[in-house]
Amino acid sequence: MMRGVEQIPTLYDLIMLPLDKAVFEQRRQQLFGSIKGDVLEIGVGTGLNLDVYGSQAQITAVDIGPQLLAAAKPRARQRGANILLADAQQLPFPDACFDYVTAALVFCTIPNPVLALQEIARVLRRGGRLVQLEHTRTNHVVPDAVLNFANPVWKVLTGGCHINRDTPALLMAQGWHLLDHQRYGGGLLRTIEAVPPQMI
Ligand SMILES: C[S@@+](CC[C@H](N)C(=O)[O-])C[C@H]1O[C@@H](n2cnc3c(N)ncnc32)[C@H](O)[C@@H]1O
Repeated sequence: MMRGVEQIPTLYDLIMLPLDKAVFEQRRQQLFGSIKGDVLEIGVGTGLNLDVYGSQAQITAVDIGPQLLAAAKPRARQRGANILLADAQQLPFPDACFDYVTAALVFCTIPNPVLALQEIARVLRRGGRLVQLEHTRTNHVVPDAVLNFANPVWKVLTGGCHINRDTPALLMAQGWHLLDHQRYGGGLLRTIEAVPPQMI
């Protein structure tokens, strides 16, 4: 993988912490704060999402970046979360073992998000949900043209993030049902709660 901001934990936190305060923190709380049961967070990064979960969530979290996981360790220890090195496209868990899979700003970076959706569907229990906070394309012509133009440079700077992905459309194309889908910032940011095809 290319090395960019997402592979350099101190730089990632330096950029994200003020952004989080301004934009993401409130959404993280709203989305993930009341989740209960066995939760798998994919793409945990440096663990910025970990302290939003309530005490009734038992958290397992994975990432493909060893440096990020090392940085997430103190946050995971403080929250009592189990973190491990794993690829969301090939999850090392048996079928139907989580009530929720969560992802915060992750589907933009996963190389093959279709594979990840198949794996998430596999590890979710009946009645389980995928809950996501994602930045996406806007579905408006002019801003999306800008996102498409910026994407090649953005991908190099960030280390693999696609600024122009349409994650809600991807889920629907794979047969997922969106129970809830909210747009913020003109569509640049989305919150999604979805159930996999086999559970509809
Ligand atoms: C933008 S960061 C988000 C980190 C964290 N979720 C947050 O909210 O700050 C994207 C993360 O997804 C991880 N990631 C990308 N592809 C992945 C994959 N195939 N499996 C697991 N994690 C992945 C990256 O290593 C990175 O930590």
